[in-house]
Amino acid sequence: MTTRIIATGAYAPVQVITNDDMANVVDTSDEWITQRTGIKERHISSGENTSALAVNTARQLLERAGRKAGDIDLIIVATVTADYSTPSVGCIVQKELGASNAVAFDVTAACSGFMFALSIADKYIKAGMYNNAIVIGAETLSKIVDWSDRSTCVLFGDGAGGAYVEKSETYGIIEEEIGSKGELYDILTGGYTDCANIFNGKEKEDSLWYVNMNGREVFKFATKSVVKSVERVLSGAGVAAEDIKYVIPHQANTRIVDIISNKLRIPHEKFYMNIDRYGNTSSASIPIALNELNEKGLIERGDKVLLTGFGGGMTWGTMLVSW
Ligand code: COA
Repeated sequence: MTTRIIATGAYAPVQVITNDDMANVVDTSDEWITQRTGIKERHISSGENTSALAVNTARQLLERAGRKAGDIDLIIVATVTADYSTPSVGCIVQKELGASNAVAFDVTAACSGFMFALSIADKYIKAGMYNNAIVIGAETLSKIVDWSDRSTCVLFGDGAGGAYVEKSETYGIIEEEIGSKGELYDILTGGYTDCANIFNGKEKEDSLWYVNMNGREVFKFATKSVVKSVERVLSGAGVAAEDIKYVIPHQANTRIVDIISNKLRIPHEKFYMNIDRYGNTSSASIPIALNELNEKGLIERGDKVLLTGFGGGMTWGTMLVSW
């Protein structure tokens, strides 16, 4: 018995900000951003918060899966940019869908968040506790990006993507792993809130609220961790790299994906990329790309698809799926 993705969905804010638009905000250029990252444009919220993006995705999932709100057992939203500390985005999605029989919560693993959330849903389903789940990655990174820091603000975008998963006796998740290396946590941080209160007299410090990143260290971590993780998952499943139809990598930087592709000896054409139009949408990046691949009809029943990502924490996650 396993867990199968029976529908995918995605939603991004309508406002599109190009690299030329970014050059009006910070000292950068379309040429620099394109060459160093592969990004050409990104969607930026005009006010919709993370839950709005997640709810739109969830509605699409329900419709495409042909299921009713009351059928949903579990709702997991991966996000680092929730509307509130409490309630979770998951609970807001539950209310908006009217999914009164579900249990809902959020998980936080930055850009690996969707992989963590899918892994958790898979475990609940395999344990026989639930029969299905809605799993979503949703972010409005624009609210924690420092719009005066050119080394980070050009990289990120807003969006959401997700999957409706169900218990399956045939196709589905074959092998997966998630991992973390907390000792590196400070190479990528964001959303810090200072412990200031009336009794300690501390002033709230805003600077660590914004995304702060050692780009080169993250780059090194990404190329190493993803390659090792994919190798472990493929060998655990006894599946050869050439049997993979598509790899859906976290969309952080085309140069990172080029290195991963070379090291794994999986041809570049097999890596599905849409970073040019979305930038890095953190936990939403893998499900947005997966949904696009699915909408284009590029994957067929039984095809082997590999999802893999890395992110703040530092974290990583890889999943091999028989579609
Ligand atoms: N426009 C123009 N110049 C920029 C710039 C921008 N947006 N951002 C940085 N620069 C400049 C730097 O100031 C530096 O100038 P200097 O040499 O005069 O000091 C130069 O470009 C090179 O900067 P560097 O940081 O060495 O560039 P890089 O080749 O490492 O690329 C990243 C930077 C962020 C694109 C790259 O490190 C990266 O992608 N890292 C991984 C990030 C990631 O994946 N994050 C998400 C994790 S989930």
